Amino acid sequence: MTTSAAYADFAAREAHGVSPTYERLALAVSRDDALLALLDTLPPAKRQPNLLFGVVRLLGGPVDDPVAFRDFTESNWPAVAAGCRSRATQTNEAGRCAVVLPVLAALPQPLALLEVGASAGLNLYPDRYAYRYGEHRLGAGEPVLDCDLTGTAPPARRPEVVWRAGLDLNPLDVTEPADVRWLDALIWPEHARRRERLRAAAAVVAADPPSLVRGDLVDDLPALAAQAPPDATLVVFHTSVLYQVPQPRREAFAQVVRGLPGHWVANEAPQVLPYEGLPEPPDAALRNVLALDGRPLAWTWPHGQAATWFA
Ligand SMILES: C[S@@+](CC[C@H](N)C(=O)[O-])C[C@H]1O[C@@H](n2cnc3c(N)ncnc32)[C@H](O)[C@@H]1O
Repeated sequence: MTTSAAYADFAAREAHGVSPTYERLALAVSRDDALLALLDTLPPAKRQPNLLFGVVRLLGGPVDDPVAFRDFTESNWPAVAAGCRSRATQTNEAGRCAVVLPVLAALPQPLALLEVGASAGLNLYPDRYAYRYGEHRLGAGEPVLDCDLTGTAPPARRPEVVWRAGLDLNPLDVTEPADVRWLDALIWPEHARRRERLRAAAAVVAADPPSLVRGDLVDDLPALAAQAPPDATLVVFHTSVLYQVPQPRREAFAQVVRGLPGHWVANEAPQVLPYEGLPEPPDAALRNVLALDGRPLAWTWPHGQAATWFA
């Protein structure tokens, strides 16, 4: 796919109906030959809209006006390019806990949670957040994770977590203001609720920081899994990670995780972790598939705002 097509696709499939600002911006970039030429000087993985827009926001650039955005990006190209080269999209969305929770709560307790592609580890605390599934509430305090659940009953309890650890190529630290600023810059402009949620979840995590290991989800998973207490149910899980992993490594990862004791919870796009016999997605927008031990269970919305269980 050309860079222009990738930006047009992002506008139509990811930003449309979710962020008018990014939809407008991505469409403008898709038609801007000068900007596209600059982007094409970056390695392919570093040309993506979320990365470019996040870096420009981090540098204090405007994203609400495509002309001002282009002027800023062109005049600050060395800093923008350096930011794109040195950073990765590591959006850490605590809201995704709400779609994973029904699966975690149904497993034998207590749990030892091991998240691969953990970013700052916000999803390692499903037992500490509050949830609202329609009228059904679980837990108290902030953040409150809202989720529109259909096709399954909401969980009756939060899981009991006795051990948690994360693995990431580049773990972020919520006690570091610079890391929190990057996580904030990755949240789309109109998403004030998500920004509040990041702040609230980061406060929960900063009060009791997780063990986050720098490493690769294939090479370094067995050693970290071996540290989990044997009397808890080991759950290796990941959400919106494998699209960043080359195809042969995804297969290697699936093989490694299948060889471990315990359970495997995946929440990934169907293109990156395909399953046979998936039902039609509810609409044309990007959805993830929630799966337990390789068995697909539900379509989930990208930020955990809804999930539709398969009939
Ligand atoms: C889009 S973020 C998602 C973060 C988190 N799972 C969530 O849903 O909020 C993807 C994360 O996967 C990490 N990642 C990508 N490839 C990886 C690999 N091979 N091994 C470990 N982590 C990886 C990235 O560094 C990034 O932090």
